Amino acid sequence: MTATSIKDVLKSPTLFVMKILGMKPLRYQAEFLEDNSPKIIVVGGRQIGKSTMLSWKAIWKAFTHPNEEILIISASFEQAQLVYSKIYETCRNNEFLSTHLQKITLHETRFDNGSGIRCLTAGRKGTFGRGYSATMVMFDEASIIPEEAFVSLEPALAVRGSQLIMSGTPMGKRGRFYKVWESHFHSREWSAYQIKSSENPFVSRDYLREEAQIMTAEQYAQEHEAVFLDTVGRFYPLDLVMDAADDYKYSLERKKPDGSFYMGVDVAHMGTDETAIVVIFVPKDDKHLRTEVSYAKTLLKSDILSSSKEIIDTARAMDCELIMIDKIGLGAGMYDILRATFGNKVRGVVLEGKRRESAYNYLKIMLENHKLRLNINDTKLLYQFGSYTMKESVSGSLRITKDTSSHDDLVDALVLATTALGATLNYVPFEGLGELFTLEEQYIQNMLKRGFPKYLPRT
Ligand SMILES: Nc1ncnc2c1ncn2[C@@H]1O[C@H](COP(=O)(O)OP(=O)(O)OP(=O)(O)O)[C@@H](O)[C@H]1O
Ligand SMILES: [Mg+2]
Repeated sequence: MTATSIKDVLKSPTLFVMKILGMKPLRYQAEFLEDNSPKIIVVGGRQIGKSTMLSWKAIWKAFTHPNEEILIISASFEQAQLVYSKIYETCRNNEFLSTHLQKITLHETRFDNGSGIRCLTAGRKGTFGRGYSATMVMFDEASIIPEEAFVSLEPALAVRGSQLIMSGTPMGKRGRFYKVWESHFHSREWSAYQIKSSENPFVSRDYLREEAQIMTAEQYAQEHEAVFLDTVGRFYPLDLVMDAADDYKYSLERKKPDGSFYMGVDVAHMGTDETAIVVIFVPKDDKHLRTEVSYAKTLLKSDILSSSKEIIDTARAMDCELIMIDKIGLGAGMYDILRATFGNKVRGVVLEGKRRESAYNYLKIMLENHKLRLNINDTKLLYQFGSYTMKESVSGSLRITKDTSSHDDLVDALVLATTALGATLNYVPFEGLGELFTLEEQYIQNMLKRGFPKYLPRT
């Protein structure tokens, strides 16, 4: 490389990525890299290389400009680690960059020009201590980062000439990410990108066709066409779901001995259905009944015997107190198999009519009363809450309807797990425990606020 060409390479982030990092940015990645607007918003489909281009921009900026402080904020610890490990590996293993490293730790990469990059987790509270000052702040997965994180980092960006970047896949018309996206149509303050999955040459048409088959039209529009959707009419409002989401990891081990695990099993029925299992955990003697989803999995499509083996292994590993299974259709066969292994720890329920409504309501009430923690890393489960809507029936009453073309198996399994919990509390009835009793919603709300009593009176 001649002296002039090195200068050119360092000046252009695209050339830098190509010549020094040895990668080939896609067209929209190059456009983003070259954009030095003070405010940039990227709204993109899944897996189009958003996080990758953020990390490239960070490395280029830090390496070629002195005294830059760059923060990359992710929604979860896992995601922040993923982004940071890419930066760490790239800088350490690159012959050219590594000679200019001043310091490289598991949290921070700093060059000898005084510039550094840090990757932080927003978490659910989203607050950062004071004392961060930054010349560039990038929010990865901005749609699931809580409002507080944006507010808390605003003072950090007081530096003149600083850059603010928000990037992510849409998650409903809500939150800061959406507001900024909306505002860019009215003001020219933000440089905005909207990138569909189909614009990524690595994403095959076949894959997108398959996705279109298993998702609702709305979900496809959101995840692959990068469109913000209305959230009205949802039975589980998006804010309710996102408020319950917290940053933690699923584990199959029984790491928490002081409490009980309840499992819900939703067996595949139709062609596109999948069998799903969800395990929830309730701490022992917790009057406030703060439960969390400890494990959730969609099983690969296979015969009932191999699925049952996996369910049995999971229930054993977590030593589940009770396993609730929907006995409709193939569920009946699974019920028999599980029953043969676990005896009366396995309960069957037919979630239809009022029983179904009250089971879905029960889950909603738990969320409304902050009784259930969901895993922010399990976007599949979080998204599936969107398949349930409220529709007015002929008689004028509101009914919960489910989009049959989409996957909602995990939420159904979760409903069954909370039904299992309810069953031990003698709330939601199940086979063998008598008739269905419907409780006034307000009554349940009050109960939840006061802490769950062991037994609720029958009406
Ligand atoms: N220009 C490129 N050339 C080759 N591979 C790329 C390129 N850009 C991204 N990738 C790869 O594509 C995959 C997806 O990239 P990345 O994780 O950055 O996407 P994303 O949009 O952040 O995805 P998600 O929506 O899941 O967060 C990764 O394996 C990444 O290494
Ligand atoms: Mg990403």
